[in-house]
Amino acid sequence: MSHLSRTPSGRPAEPGDPAASGSPFVRADDHWARYNAEQGDRDVRGNCRRAMALAGPGAGRTAVDLGCGAGRETRALLEAGWRVTAYDNEPTMLSAVDPTDPALTARLLGFEEITELPPADLIYAGYALPFQGRPSFDRLWTVIRSAVRPGGRIAVDFFGVRDSWSATPWMTFLNAVEVRTLLDGLTVEHWQEQDEVGPAFSGSKHWHVFEVIAVRP
Ligand SMILES: C[S@@+](CC[C@H](N)C(=O)[O-])C[C@H]1O[C@@H](n2cnc3c(N)ncnc32)[C@H](O)[C@@H]1O
Repeated sequence: MSHLSRTPSGRPAEPGDPAASGSPFVRADDHWARYNAEQGDRDVRGNCRRAMALAGPGAGRTAVDLGCGAGRETRALLEAGWRVTAYDNEPTMLSAVDPTDPALTARLLGFEEITELPPADLIYAGYALPFQGRPSFDRLWTVIRSAVRPGGRIAVDFFGVRDSWSATPWMTFLNAVEVRTLLDGLTVEHWQEQDEVGPAFSGSKHWHVFEVIAVRP
């Protein structure tokens, strides 16, 4: 019998990798509704601001916001001249955005149900893609890679195997090699690994996050 501990995805845990001993992320049914209610007025997330600065003015180009939540980043993209298609499976999505904005398309859809995305010059997913199982994650990543136009950017947060929530079987946690593999063939413009305790909506936790911006050549 093997004594190797295993991550929730079945991969053997690496040395020092507490994936098998992290706590599962447990949500109440109204978790994301309560989360969204507190997000509308905060600063635009740094990874979105950086991607927008690298991309230049939207000038009518298409952006996608996956797991948009209240829409703080969607609103910033609209204000910068992007046409935005925003996805989330929480009915309170986009509460921070003018729903009549003609440049906005809202899709109330789970990641597991997305089979195609509009061709886009910027695909942003802030703290969102890990909230699905690995098979769905891998399928959606393929959809994302084929939707981003040549010269376009993907700006995304991946959760790492040392995250507090890494024992959550329905989520996706990756090590650095796995993240690099996902980015094969793309040009990495920004890579920042966070591996520390910090605040979260549900209380203090250990954040292990890979914040990435990559360009399709
Ligand atoms: C941590 S919040 C991030 C929201 C926003 N991007 C931000 O940075 O504030 C995660 C978002 O993903 C959405 N979400 C979680 N699981 C999802 C799924 N399986 N399909 C679609 N959206 C999902 C939630 O409703 C929530 O709005």
